[in-house]
Amino acid sequence: MGQLRSVIAGVGAYLPPGVMTNDDLAKIVDTSDEWIVERTGIRQRHRADPGVATSDLAVEAANKALAAAGKTAADVDLIIVATTTPDLTFPATAAIVQRKLGAPIGIAFDVQAVCSGFVYALSVADGFMAAGRSQCALVIGAEEMTKLMDWSDRGTCVLFGDGAGAVVLVPQEGEGTTDDAGLLGFALRCDGTKQDLLYVDGGPSTDGQVGKLRMQGNQVFRHAVVNIAEAVTAAAADAKVAVSDVDWFIPHQANLRILNGVANRLGIDEAKVVTTVDRHANTSAASIPLALAEAVEDGRIQRGQLLLLEAMGGGLTWGACVIRY
Ligand code: UT7
Repeated sequence: MGQLRSVIAGVGAYLPPGVMTNDDLAKIVDTSDEWIVERTGIRQRHRADPGVATSDLAVEAANKALAAAGKTAADVDLIIVATTTPDLTFPATAAIVQRKLGAPIGIAFDVQAVCSGFVYALSVADGFMAAGRSQCALVIGAEEMTKLMDWSDRGTCVLFGDGAGAVVLVPQEGEGTTDDAGLLGFALRCDGTKQDLLYVDGGPSTDGQVGKLRMQGNQVFRHAVVNIAEAVTAAAADAKVAVSDVDWFIPHQANLRILNGVANRLGIDEAKVVTTVDRHANTSAASIPLALAEAVEDGRIQRGQLLLLEAMGGGLTWGACVIRY
């Protein structure tokens, strides 16, 4: 029996032009290029200027994704922005993106699942598509993580960056098999008891401040590889594919050691892992669509190939999804 699938019609990404190298950071905190590269794989990160908002990055990425899909803003009936760095406490950044794009009245809201936000947002959009409630959706991961940094904390400020990535989803009738194009399976997780490992120490209903990012990095690291591998296995089972069938593994870009650790645990060849962490650092919900866009634009990812996306972040949240591109 046929099944409505959410198919990626186009991808796009945007990085603000400002670049901070590890040597730039070594002038601010007690760190070194050698330590950062060895422990994380990060060599540089992009940083948005003051006055440039998350929605500005999102709009740039969205316009590229729309062009790649052969669509215009007028076609969009659903906008989901995955972000943990919204322009304002409200309205949702998605509503601001809708206005800036000139998209018509439709559905627009944000998803807050921190670094796992893009995977969560894809699954939410897939629900609308599968129910026939959207004909053209923009799912965007957009972040300005540098604006949440405590620039005196070398354990966090060297890890994060700014950027945005977007996909355009359209519904397509499939056969209900693993050969269908589109989103094939998900596994989403949250363990709220691990909040203290990674959080921002401010908010509108507590201290009325934006706050700064706090992380017990080595504790998060300990959870990452095991939890992510479990979610990847579960997403593959949900999609009814084998992890070994995957053509491209597109992980959240937090730390090269985590990316490769997950790949090794799952028996995935490191050559199949799309890696941008060296140049982008950790851009939270933006990191997966940024990596996806890079590998689509440079021709690595081809139509018909099987993609596996995974992420882990504050919450703790984590998850994975399988897509036939
Ligand atoms: O996207 C959300 C998910 N986040 C993550 O997945 C991040 C997960 N965690 C990590 O990536 C790693 O834990 C870090 C990169 C954050 C840290 O690496 P680590 O190997 O776990 O180091 P550590 O935190 O255990 O610290 C080891 C040492 C400490 O010094 P002492 O106590 O051994 O003297 C730190 O103070 O490294 C020190 N250190 C630094 N040294 C130079 C911590 N940050 C820095 C730094 N430069 N930037």
